[in-house]
Amino acid sequence: GQYTASQRKNVRILLVGDAGVGKTSLILSLVSEEYPEEVPPRAEEITIPANVTPEQVPTNIVDFSSVEQSDEALAAEINKAHVVCIVYAVDDDDSLDRITSHWLPLVRSTCSSSSSSTNTDGEPDVARKPIVLVGNKIDLIEYSTIDSVLAIMEDYPEIESCVECSAKTLHNISEMFYYAQKAVLHPTSPLYIMEEQN
Ligand code: GTP
Ligand code: MG
Repeated sequence: GQYTASQRKNVRILLVGDAGVGKTSLILSLVSEEYPEEVPPRAEEITIPANVTPEQVPTNIVDFSSVEQSDEALAAEINKAHVVCIVYAVDDDDSLDRITSHWLPLVRSTCSSSSSSTNTDGEPDVARKPIVLVGNKIDLIEYSTIDSVLAIMEDYPEIESCVECSAKTLHNISEMFYYAQKAVLHPTSPLYIMEEQN
């Protein structure tokens, strides 16, 4: 039948990105509304109740740590997520380059290698997982990286939005998670391809 993303009962958000870009800090800043000076490698999975999210949908936020998790665990989390936030640090060009050299291809290949087996219940193949690009540590620089990011967006239509933020000053932190929710509930590009009828 007709599939509408807005019928979702929850939204699962996964944060990935190079070590040290601030994934764990972003999650803990959102939850505590203050910047944690010391963070563990990986935040516990958190669930934000529906009534405190802008879209009124319970939202799970999942951290990734290359120290604590294997490539297989990462692939499993990518498949479980409804949206993937790829985080880079705006003061670290290498972390920005790795969006196109590593993270976007990884998310694409992970989803395409598993999609054919997941559509037994009439749900569509997930052709492309929606992505939000997140530039953290905007407190450290005086310029913007958005021009580079807009160029990336032209090549990867699954990128729903991009945002520059700071876990330290809390600038755009709630916006970042709102954009991720919105990418799932109100995608602007056709992310889902219906399975062919037999
Ligand atoms: P891994 O767990 O190793 O993959 O790293 P991570 O992406 O979780 O980064 P983490 O949150 O551990 O932050 C790495 C370092 O960057 C820490 O020293 C943080 O305090 C710092 N940091 C995180 N966010 C910000 C920010 O917005 N501004 C500044 N100036 N520093 C930040
Ligand atoms: Mg971490």
